[in-house]
Amino acid sequence: ASFLVLHGPNLNLLGTREPDVYGATTLEQINQGLLQHAQALGHELYCFQSNAEYQLIDRIHAAREEQIDCIIINPAAFTHTSVALRDALLAVNIPFFEVHLSNVHKREQFRHHSYFSDVAVGVVCGLGANGYRFALDAAFDHIKK
Ligand code: DQA
Repeated sequence: ASFLVLHGPNLNLLGTREPDVYGATTLEQINQGLLQHAQALGHELYCFQSNAEYQLIDRIHAAREEQIDCIIINPAAFTHTSVALRDALLAVNIPFFEVHLSNVHKREQFRHHSYFSDVAVGVVCGLGANGYRFALDAAFDHIKK
């Protein structure tokens, strides 16, 4: 099967960005770990990060053409603002998991609402970089069903 991992704005700075909140692992390390995990199980995995909303939307549209089976997305700050990204995921009709490194629920009020959670298969938050792997494992299980 094939999987797409999407990272939203500022996640390119992981490793140096507020490490007390987001951890010391870089985006490259996260992506490499996911890639190895997927390949070991015979799956294809693609990773994409952008600071621009339209690029994430275009990548989601392309995923339909590529027949991606499941998406793992950390929309970052777009979580709390982007109807357009939500609509893109619904438009392509690809099941997705939402990931946040930090526990958004114990942070500022404006991070408590997500435009994605009510249409995601599941949500992982507050478990740091490991959360991506937990979501990927859940995605493997999901597409088997
Ligand atoms: C985040 C949480 C968001 O509120 C924030 O804007 C981010 C990262 C997380 O992974 O914890 O950029 O999605």
